[in-house]
Formats: sequence, C-alpha cells, structure tokens
Amino acid sequence: MQFPLQSSLQPLLYGLHSGKDPMTRKTPLSRPSLAANTNAYLHQALHGYQAADGPFCHKAETWLQDYSGRPALLTASCTAALEMAALLADIKAGDEIILPSFTFPSTANAFVRLGATPVFVDIRHDTFNLDESKVEAAITSRTRALVPVHYAGAGCNMKALTALCEKYGLLLIEDAAQGLMASYQGIPLGNFGDFAAFSFHSTKNIGCGEGGALLLKDVSQLERALCLRDKGTNRQAFLRDEVKAYQWVSCGSSWGLSDINAALLLAQFEEADRLTQARLERWGNYHQALADAEKNDDLRRPQVPQDCQHNGHIYPVLLPSSDKCQKVQQQLQQVGISAYPHYAPLHLAPAGQPYAHQPLPVTEDIAARLLRLPLWSDMPAPDQDAVIEQLLACL
Ligand SMILES: Cc1ncc(COP(=O)(O)O)c(C=O)c1O
Repeated sequence: MQFPLQSSLQPLLYGLHSGKDPMTRKTPLSRPSLAANTNAYLHQALHGYQAADGPFCHKAETWLQDYSGRPALLTASCTAALEMAALLADIKAGDEIILPSFTFPSTANAFVRLGATPVFVDIRHDTFNLDESKVEAAITSRTRALVPVHYAGAGCNMKALTALCEKYGLLLIEDAAQGLMASYQGIPLGNFGDFAAFSFHSTKNIGCGEGGALLLKDVSQLERALCLRDKGTNRQAFLRDEVKAYQWVSCGSSWGLSDINAALLLAQFEEADRLTQARLERWGNYHQALADAEKNDDLRRPQVPQDCQHNGHIYPVLLPSSDKCQKVQQQLQQVGISAYPHYAPLHLAPAGQPYAHQPLPVTEDIAARLLRLPLWSDMPAPDQDAVIEQLLACL
C-alpha cells in the first residue's frame, strides 16, 4: 500500500484546483511543491526506520555534491549549517564578521553565539545585496570573515567580494539560504565561499519542512564537520568499522537531517530544473505585468544583474513610500492576498542594536518599502492574475 499523501491528502492540503489555502481561503505568500516521487519516497523512508544517515540522506547529499562539485552535508536547517560553518572557521570571541543587516537573524546568530561581533554593512539599492563598495571601509585587523547573503536567489558581486577576501585574508561564508539553482557568472551560488549554507525550509524553492545543507571548499574539513553534526562524536568512524564504539570527541550538536525529510528533498531535487523553470516563469509574469506601473513610478520591480542567473525565489516590489507599502499590504490582505515585507533590519532589532554603530540608510529605506508578492512553482495562473489585478488597483 502506498502512503496516500498525493492521492487523497494533497487536495485537502493544497485546495482542489486553486492556489488558495483551504483553511484561510487566502492566497498564501508561498507554498511547498510536491514532486512526482514524493509519495513513493516518503513511503520507503517511513518503512526504512532510518533516523538520519539513511539512504535518502545519502542520495540527497550525492545530488548536492554533483550539483556543486563540493563536499555537501545535509543539516537540520540553514541556521544549523551557518552554526557549523562558524565553528569550522574557528570563529572566536572578539572576531569581527561583516554581513548585511538586511537578513534573517540566523546569519548573525551563528557568530554572535561564539562571542564574535557582527559588523553590519549597507546593501545596494538595486539588488538589496551587500554593497561591495562599502565593505572595505568596514574591515579592521579583527575582521575574520565576510558573510554575503544572496537575496532572492540573485548573487552578490562575488568578483569584488572574493577579491576583498583574498586581499585581507578573510574567510568567505556564503549565506546561500535562498540560492539553490542560481549562479553568478555561470558558477552556482555556494561555490565561492570557504563555506556555504543553504536552506530547505518549506518557504524556499525546494523545501522539506525544516532542512539545510553545508558546502565545504576544503575536503579536509569533512571529518570534523561530520563529527560536529553527530553531536560531537566519532560516530562516522564507528559506521566505517574503525572503532568499536563511538564516543564524545569534540563539541557538537544534533545538526543532521532525518531520512524522512531527506526523502521529501530528494524527490524535489530530481525535479529541480522543472521547479525552478516554473518559478521563473511566474516571476517573469509579474515582471511583464508590472512594467507599466514601474514606468509610471508607482512601484519599482526587482533588478537582477546581467551576470546573475537568479532562481525566482522572491518577487519583491518597492513601493514609493513606507506608508504606501503598508496600505497596499492591507488592501491586498482585505481581498485575501498575502503579501509581506521582508527582513526587519538586524541593527534596529533589540538584539542587534548594541552592534549598530553606523547608519545604514539603504537598508532602512528598502526594508520600509519592500513588499513580497505571492509566488511558488505551482502557483495557478488565475491566482497570479488576481494578485496582479488587485495590486494594480491599489497603486
Ligand atoms: C538569509 C537567510 N539566512 C538564513 C535563514 C535561516 O534558514 P533556516 O530556516 O533554514 O534555518 C534564512 C531563513 O529564511 C534566511 O532568509
């Protein structure tokens, strides 16, 4: 008997032929995609009784390694991958880490929890990515790492950022939470850094509830990374029959992904091209439909640099003012459409204020005026048409 997720539960979970949430009857901001093999793989994973390190974990890791050409470890989240990267990078109290303030708290937390100081640098007003022209001024003798975030799956200026890392001997840790299936100058995001962290949270293009991955540049870090992920034990050596029992050998945590989550992930990895293409088409629909609104200065559409192939993760529009942004969000909400701002700048947040030493005008301006429109790979055309119609009516 097959686990009946796709056959009978899917319409309940996802609405019959509508993109609306069946509980709230609203158009959500995003929703996860199910792939053709989801049902079969979940069934196998449930009956395989493998917690972690099961066959789906191995296959999904192999997919990621083939995709990136780098050693890849599945993790419980992007947060976990960033925390592992910070430990592998030997970040210590007093170290300074350069990152944008326009990001999720995990980007900073991974380093702050080790006593390091986040140094926030402003973003570019066109891509909302770290402004490479402002990074050098933030580098001091204590700077250890640069952590760019590829916003909306559109790459940062990696040419400039890698050059700065080389010049000053800094580690490069890519927060590629949104970056799977996107590239910069033909190179997949995640392949520039000493470490890179991906998110497979359900809100991402490819997701499995909660999940993530860590990419390593240096294969000699692999054993240490596995040990960190295995609660600080040498369990991998035990699995390879090199020791009779495994034991506590270093600090670590429970950062692995369960085989059930990996089964969901593998099914989507196998369809990564289709899911990305479908998402890009819907992203393109918004872009085309909102061209006149941009000409009329009613909003600004997202701008993707020519040397980036983005993955359509988010369709963020900039409204002319913060007031207008809030009004548009409310009006869309009233007609059952969920559109949301994005990151509340970290330097203005309670935990970030102690590190707020310089104004970040672009970050504050963008955060106040940015609205994300509903977007997911299988978003039905009528739902997207309704979003466009309602949005244009609010401008
Ligand atoms: C830029 C960025 N980094 C890290 C994270 C954390 O990802 P996760 O939920 O997989 O831990 C997010 C979450 O959306 C994010 O947007």
